[in-house]
Amino acid sequence: MAARLASSSKYLSSSIIISPKVTPSVSLAFFSTNIVGESPVLVRDYIHAALYDPEHGYFSQRSGSVGVLDGSIKFNQLDGRRAYLKHLDAIYKQSDTSWFTPVELFKPWYAHGIAEAIMRTANFSIPLKIYEIGGGSGTCAKGVMDYIKLNAPSRVYDNMTYVSVEISSSLAKKQLETVGQVDSHLTKFRVEYRDAADQKGWGVEQQPCWVIMLEVLDNLPHDLIYSKNQVSSWTEVWVEKRHDSGSPQKWRLVGGLWGRRVAVPGSMLDLGDGNYWLWNSSRAEAPQGRRPQGIEAHGLPWFPRMVIFADGSPRRSELSELYKPVEDSLIASCMEILDLAKDGTTHGSMASSVAKSIWAKAFPRPRRCWLPTGCLKLLQVLHGALPKMSLIASDFSYLPDVRISGERAPLVASKKDGNSSDHNSYLDAKGDADIFFPTDFWLLERIDHYCSGWLKPHEDNSSKKGKKRRTITLDTSSFMEEFGLPSKTRTKDGYNPMLDDFKNTKFYLSVPTHNTK
Ligand SMILES: C[S@@+](CC[C@H](N)C(=O)[O-])C[C@H]1O[C@@H](n2cnc3c(N)ncnc32)[C@H](O)[C@@H]1O
Repeated sequence: MAARLASSSKYLSSSIIISPKVTPSVSLAFFSTNIVGESPVLVRDYIHAALYDPEHGYFSQRSGSVGVLDGSIKFNQLDGRRAYLKHLDAIYKQSDTSWFTPVELFKPWYAHGIAEAIMRTANFSIPLKIYEIGGGSGTCAKGVMDYIKLNAPSRVYDNMTYVSVEISSSLAKKQLETVGQVDSHLTKFRVEYRDAADQKGWGVEQQPCWVIMLEVLDNLPHDLIYSKNQVSSWTEVWVEKRHDSGSPQKWRLVGGLWGRRVAVPGSMLDLGDGNYWLWNSSRAEAPQGRRPQGIEAHGLPWFPRMVIFADGSPRRSELSELYKPVEDSLIASCMEILDLAKDGTTHGSMASSVAKSIWAKAFPRPRRCWLPTGCLKLLQVLHGALPKMSLIASDFSYLPDVRISGERAPLVASKKDGNSSDHNSYLDAKGDADIFFPTDFWLLERIDHYCSGWLKPHEDNSSKKGKKRRTITLDTSSFMEEFGLPSKTRTKDGYNPMLDDFKNTKFYLSVPTHNTK
């Protein structure tokens, strides 16, 4: 745990204890049965709802999903690593549901490094325009604006604009509060509460501009493809709700009112096996033909949350995977960028593919591969709206102790009473858990080139080529040594958590060039 504690800012509590039997809150019970309706959804839509459903999503439920420190950590006053970890543990214990991201832990120095990178490359003959996607609590925005105010020529600060695009209303509000701590920033700053991956919110900005994304890629929806062995075709994975009749169980009412015909919204049943069911719908009639058997016998209205059968057993809904041939265009594009053939074959001689097929039959090995379709969609939209953007993105390149299977698989983690716990399935995330993915920076660069038009799809034989971009991926330590002030995050014995602990995070920088060759 110590390694993980050190290497991932999202994991900073050394003890993992979670009660297996947790009484669900009203919103969770509602959410768990509603995240997927009666029709199946693609995995990315499931993840999007689990994280960003306006009422029940992890990021929408609470602004505390992105933690805010009261003040900066005085690294120079800490003896070393042990003292730093103790300090962090205390902070984490105090803030029940938050994760602290590097920009927060190392404020203001982390944001200052980003501001310096922008200042060194920006063309000051035009007004500086910065967009931030997913600005969390606004710490980066404030830090960058503070730095520019102090270090750039005054006309640069006076004429700059900083636009934050934030999908969570509670975080959008928090950003305004944070940036508003400096009055003069407010005339240059605005937050747009919307999904940055939705083209509708964007116009077209022809001027050069900057886009900052810190720990956003890891929380973007991903898709999953599955193949049952090494030579079978890939299928796209959907999530569906399955009704499981379960075995007859005793139930009793633990809250609310229950009558022969009517359950009052809010009534809660203890099923005696650690599960609770909650009625939060008033009487709802099932559409003709879908009225479940057994209802008439009880003379009860149909409640979408739960069905009582004639034998008194509740029928539960569970989420499971469904496999369909690949048809979705984002999935198909991602597979193309990755050079994954849809039919599961790889390029090679006839003899080698025959050998492969025999091997696959003898030792079938199911394959699961997570695809950053949310990132592809976002970059497509950004390249369309901001063709001259320069991009600075930082994220986790690797995540420790991932329990979920597949290439680029996510961690699904929740935090309760200061302790974090990981889930074994992404289908367990019900608005109370963060789902975050490692970023494959090689793939990110290819997606960036694909969206700028430089990397062309196989079937595109046109001579038209998009703009080439200059890109570089740097370890966080290299980025901060180049642009930041690492001495500010150094402890007395020389240990520097920003440089030493964030080995599993990287920065990606991508700037346009006018060179099309
Ligand atoms: C892990 S937090 C990182 C916050 C902040 N950048 C930081 O480093 O502290 C991810 C942020 O991205 C936002 N976000 C995720 N998807 C988004 C989207 N499609 N459009 C806008 N914001 C998004 C979340 O609401 C949240 O503010």
